[in-house]
Amino acid sequence: SAERRVAPALLAWYDRHRRELPWRARAGETPNPYRVWLSEVMLQQTTVVTVGPYYARFLERWPTVEALAAAQLDEVLHAWQGLGYYARARNLHRCAKAVAAEHGGRFPSSEEGLLTLPGIGGYTAAAVAAIAFGAKATPVDGNIERVVARLFAVETPLPAAKPELKRLAGQLTPETRAGDFAQAMMDLGATVCRPKAPLCLTCPLTRLCAARAQGIAQTLPRRSPK
Ligand code: ADE
Repeated sequence: SAERRVAPALLAWYDRHRRELPWRARAGETPNPYRVWLSEVMLQQTTVVTVGPYYARFLERWPTVEALAAAQLDEVLHAWQGLGYYARARNLHRCAKAVAAEHGGRFPSSEEGLLTLPGIGGYTAAAVAAIAFGAKATPVDGNIERVVARLFAVETPLPAAKPELKRLAGQLTPETRAGDFAQAMMDLGATVCRPKAPLCLTCPLTRLCAARAQGIAQTLPRRSPK
């Protein structure tokens, strides 16, 4: 089936085109869960370009989860200034304290374990489980929703389509390299399967894409009128 060909094609593309981002372990290196978690929290509702310098400053000042747990909340809020959504910074600090005090400074390695931490929701739990620990988990952000809506030509509008898109994304996720797969989907959504002008001619999934076959890629995903 076309579905089973998506992950291999996408991972081969990722191996050639992966973006070098500060929080990504180089190919072959072991990812650091603290760094993955910090980056994923920062990247919610904030762009890769904006996050870069904040991420570097945080890591320099608080290189470990224990160091962040020992910080004063107002220091963390101050360092967060400009990233927006201060609730995220408060939750970040609460979560660091919980990992330090209740988990010996080590992040739980499963999606379910991560979900028990304060401020870690479904997206972050799946992202950290897959990217840092290699678990078969599927974080679904806006980029991934768009890629999946197009691959399967899902015409149901957002937000109603969310559960269906999540299910389909899970079906595409391979048993191994789930973290690379998630990040490849994010990279594809950011650079190729773009919202307005998708670059279908250079897309590694063109021949597997139902929306492309129907000529409707750039109209998906649909959104319910407000
Ligand atoms: N957006 C959220 N997480 C990301 C990641 N790991 N790589 C690229 N973009 C992202």
